[in-house]
Amino acid sequence: MRDFRGLSNIALIGFMGTGKTCVGKKLAQKLDLQFVDSDVEIEQIMNMSIPEVFNRFGEIRFRSEENLVIQKLANHSQNTVIASGGGSVVNPINLIALKNSCVVVTLTASPEVIMQRCSKKGNRPLLKQDDTLENVKALLASRFVAYNRGDFIVDTDELLPEEVVDVIVRRLEENGYAKGQG
Ligand code: S3P
Repeated sequence: MRDFRGLSNIALIGFMGTGKTCVGKKLAQKLDLQFVDSDVEIEQIMNMSIPEVFNRFGEIRFRSEENLVIQKLANHSQNTVIASGGGSVVNPINLIALKNSCVVVTLTASPEVIMQRCSKKGNRPLLKQDDTLENVKALLASRFVAYNRGDFIVDTDELLPEEVVDVIVRRLEENGYAKGQG
């Protein structure tokens, strides 16, 4: 595994519903780091919600805003936990930028758990309420290679967010992560 000495940021990557935002906030609190969510940044820049961005401008425009936000966050953050939008690392340029400046942690969950966690919210344009398990599996499969590039992977199916945080902190400590550097 990569030695984390010199990296002061932690990026959480993974599919919708794996807990990046919830875990990221708690992780930041625990390690006394800043927290930033790429979707929230996009919403602030465009002054509208993510579903509105998709509805009014489409996915291509969303992805181009997302690319800019991820590059900015990757290149200018220090001592920060970055929760990245689920599709952002499909673009290898974003993945490389995050890997250059962050310990990259992949959160995973089974398609069934993802469906359960996301079904009630209706705030994800790529995961509609009437989506089938097959659709989720297909989208997950298409992103497998990108998500597999994290420095380590934490399966969140059976864990509470606090437990996910504990696993991450342990893995970070084992590999020399130290905030305040780089
Ligand atoms: C997306 C994930 C969402 C959001 C957008 C597209 C994706 O973020 O960026 O709806 O392509 O997987 P979360 O992973 O935070 O839900």
